[in-house]
Amino acid sequence: MSKAHLGLIGLGVMGENLVLNAERNGFSIVVYNRTYSKTEDFLNGRGAGKKIEGAKTLGEFVDKLEKPRRILMMIKAGTAIDKVIEQISSFLEEGDLLIDGGNSEFRDTERRVSELESKNFGYLGMGVSGGSKGALEGPSMMPGGTRDSYKAIENIVTKMAAQVEDGPCVKYIGPGGSGHFVKTVHNGIEYGIEQILAEAYDLMKRVAGINCEEIADVMRIWNNTEELSSYLVEITEVCLRTKDTYDKSDLVEKIVDKAGQKGTGLWTVVSALELGASVPTIYASLNGRVMSSMKDQRILAESILQGPSITYSDMGSKDKGMPLLKDAVILACFASYAQGMDLLSIASKEYNYQLDLPSIAQIWKGGCIIRAKLLKRIQNAYENNSNISNLLTDPWFAEQVNARLPGLARIVSLAAANGVPVPCLSSTLDYINSYRTSRLPQNLVQAMRDCFGSHTYQRVDMDGSFHTDWL
Ligand code: 6PG
Repeated sequence: MSKAHLGLIGLGVMGENLVLNAERNGFSIVVYNRTYSKTEDFLNGRGAGKKIEGAKTLGEFVDKLEKPRRILMMIKAGTAIDKVIEQISSFLEEGDLLIDGGNSEFRDTERRVSELESKNFGYLGMGVSGGSKGALEGPSMMPGGTRDSYKAIENIVTKMAAQVEDGPCVKYIGPGGSGHFVKTVHNGIEYGIEQILAEAYDLMKRVAGINCEEIADVMRIWNNTEELSSYLVEITEVCLRTKDTYDKSDLVEKIVDKAGQKGTGLWTVVSALELGASVPTIYASLNGRVMSSMKDQRILAESILQGPSITYSDMGSKDKGMPLLKDAVILACFASYAQGMDLLSIASKEYNYQLDLPSIAQIWKGGCIIRAKLLKRIQNAYENNSNISNLLTDPWFAEQVNARLPGLARIVSLAAANGVPVPCLSSTLDYINSYRTSRLPQNLVQAMRDCFGSHTYQRVDMDGSFHTDWL
């Protein structure tokens, strides 16, 4: 029996689908799962009649692989990965490669890459995006580690990945934990866009007074525009049109308004704070989830704290896709991407990742959750000027911002007048207004700091560091 091209550990839905994807693309696979019954079910079910074998033990699993071995782990991020590395290491030989395809924290990956490389094994931390459908049909993949490790799987992953007009949605990202860092930032952008669309839904429902079907119609219009055409807008329309099988009403209205999270959005914001990157739209989306989880407190507060009552207001014609609201949503989505790209560029310098931003935009154009027509513009912007200070200053984006800023301001003030929270939209407005203001009021903050703590300040008219005896 000839040895298999690829091994996979962890037969969750992502793992199963990646195996079927690799097999469809001509590769033979050996699978291992902690509980063998799961392996058996897969081999007798979705994996039946395919070039897929199972293994009962890790020793048998490793033995069934061609050398140097390539092993993809699709297991829960955290200590489970370290455990599997420890268990499998004794069976591995020099040059064998382990790949973590989960959402691991990038510093964990950084550590594992150096530990494994020091033992002459290869290790890649590979972000995989696209959910279960993407895993099966073609995900976007973000592999980080040594270039040699990537070379060992390049022929497999380039076939498995989603394909767009300028190639597969996978490219070598950079050293250490860079692949997982890029995936983390991808998810931060994902959190931002999800929250922006949720805010738009809330405004349309409560302030414009339209129903889910009508909101879905607006989403369809948006999805036909260059600025908003994207996977997340597409599935928002689907979610809004889906009916409850019990009583045929709108299913979305039956869902408890508490959003969970698995960590990547939080890590994006923590990294941004550590690196001094400004990501307020992404942070607002994370905080939106935190606030949403305080359901009991919110129920209590609703009877104590009063806001304005809602007066139905115009956000532009529904049949034209509510142009004012569309302006606001477009700018908030732009801001999510701009903040994510800015964070990548700062991290790239700080961690010496040497990230290629046009390539990252390219591999996000297909397969992943934040895929959108707009990524072509983002790719162009960084191709045209690799030192661009912020995506929003690219000529095409700047023109859009200038045209749509009044719409965003109008929507945020409308939301405030009606007492409807729009954390991502309002953070975006402040982000853009701050960024385009050459003199901010932090001169006064500096004065206060010097007044109580002699922290010193710089002057606009003289060089040097100054202190005043304010009191
Ligand atoms: C993807 C997704 C995926 C992520 C989920 C859940 O790119 O396919 O980002 O990897 O795990 O979206 O994330 P949260 O549970 O944190 O929302």
